[in-house]
Amino acid sequence: MNKQINILGIESSCDETAASVVQNGTNILSNVVATQIESHKRFGGVVPEIASRHHVEQITIVIEEALKQAKLTWDDIDAIAVTEGPGLVGSLIVGISAAKALAFAKHKQLIGVHHIAGHIYANRLQEEFEFPLLSLIVSGGHTELVYMKEHGKYERIGQTRDDAAGEAYDKIARMLDLPYPGGPQIDQLASTGEDEYRLPRAWLEEDSYDFSFSGLKSAVINLIHNKQQRGEEVNAANVAASFQASVIDVLTEKTYKAAEEYGVKQVIVAGGVAANKGLRQSLQEKFNDTNISLHFPPLSLCTDNAAMIGAAGFIAYQEGRRSGMDLNANPSLELY
Ligand code: KG4
Ligand code: ZN
Repeated sequence: MNKQINILGIESSCDETAASVVQNGTNILSNVVATQIESHKRFGGVVPEIASRHHVEQITIVIEEALKQAKLTWDDIDAIAVTEGPGLVGSLIVGISAAKALAFAKHKQLIGVHHIAGHIYANRLQEEFEFPLLSLIVSGGHTELVYMKEHGKYERIGQTRDDAAGEAYDKIARMLDLPYPGGPQIDQLASTGEDEYRLPRAWLEEDSYDFSFSGLKSAVINLIHNKQQRGEEVNAANVAASFQASVIDVLTEKTYKAAEEYGVKQVIVAGGVAANKGLRQSLQEKFNDTNISLHFPPLSLCTDNAAMIGAAGFIAYQEGRRSGMDLNANPSLELY
């Protein structure tokens, strides 16, 4: 029997301190996430300095807990995979420093992982990849369409030109006085409202797979201000539903068009916004009558976690990619 490969994944790029043990890239033995959402809520968004401090407090506890829950000792771990970037530099450094110290002390291989590769590979914890595939990555920091012909090779065919989808959700939520993070709040509120305001859809040029959400954001601000100036009531549920309809229409149409053009077998959705109920439903309806299979990670693996880093780290491990002790945080690391 082949030896099992156990990778310890570490993730600290934003506001979750996470560690996980993943076996052979697909089997989660433990998945521990310490979220800081409560600390950032009162500021309406992630405060980098506070995030770094929390990571320092949590990182060793979370790693020990991940090993304990996996019922493994350090002898069973083959490599440590850690998010190298992109993300907040002060947050990334905490995970990377812990990973480097442990790799040195315990004589383990070290692997730097791209955060978005992690989000993509969250899907492989549930379903084997079938190439070629298309991944729609929609998170607080990214909105991208990535085409993959094989493991570990990424071709970005579209990206946001301004705000990320999750960022737009969080900003609109703030305007509606909803707590951070706004995505789940708007998602919930939207399901009770109507697309009354028919906000603009940013299709951009005919042949472009890029996205833009800043115009939509301005349209919502104008709508709210105009209503307030005229003394009219703003129907928050309808604003949420109209905003969500605009975002989902564009994400669904562009993903569908790209999937057809590139002739993919699979479409996988990744990142925090992949948790969105409206987006899931709209994509499901669109791909229902096609031969393309559509996959979403379970909700717990949509937002930041370390199992996804362990899963992506396993591919790098198999390819023989290793990082040295000079591994450093790279807030704008490229995937390609
Ligand atoms: O992937 P993630 O945890 O962190 C980044 O790498 O950015 O994504 C967080 C983002 C936040 O902007 C949050 O509002 C959004 O994902 N989000 C949602 C939903 N759940 C989380 N957006 C829309 N609908 C949701 N249900
Ligand atoms: Zn993320």
